[in-house]
Amino acid sequence: MKERKQLSVSAIKNGTVIDHIPAKNVFKVLQILGLDNVDEMITFGTNFESKKLGKKGLIKVSNVFFLDEEINKIALVAPEAKLNIIKEYEVVEKKVVEVPDKIIGIARCVNPQCITNHETITTRFQVVSKKDVSLKCHYCGKITDQENLVIV
Ligand code: CTP
Ligand code: ZN
Repeated sequence: MKERKQLSVSAIKNGTVIDHIPAKNVFKVLQILGLDNVDEMITFGTNFESKKLGKKGLIKVSNVFFLDEEINKIALVAPEAKLNIIKEYEVVEKKVVEVPDKIIGIARCVNPQCITNHETITTRFQVVSKKDVSLKCHYCGKITDQENLVIV
């Protein structure tokens, strides 16, 4: 019998599909992109089967088209995410995310002594390595690496 290809989540007419998100990070991506405050239709799911990631998450946002700089913020938690821009039901463009040179907010500094962990100051980091993400704190100079990465 022929295998049926079924969409687990309905197709959208216009908007953005963010695919290949690590299954455990879907909620972080929603948070980073501020999608908890959007009035448009959003569908998302996680633990879908993926040949590449084992399990993956997926987010579809109708009528929202992100700027590259907004989308690059998710690189910390979804470095292999693929964006599909949908117009009139067709995929008109595919984009990948790129780790930016600077990270403002989003991550927490690993140093318990750092001022950002004691006062309400937005964290700032210089990205010193993009592959295995490594962030240098603008305030205390300490390095926060992938292993210690906590999203605020
Ligand atoms: N999609 C959607 N609504 C549309 C068209 C596409 O939600 N009107 C979604 C698809 O479900 C898929 C993603 O957008 O999750 C990319 O679509 P497409 O390029 O057709 O799928 P694939 O060829 O599987 O893409 P890739 O291998 O790059 O993931
Ligand atoms: Zn610091």
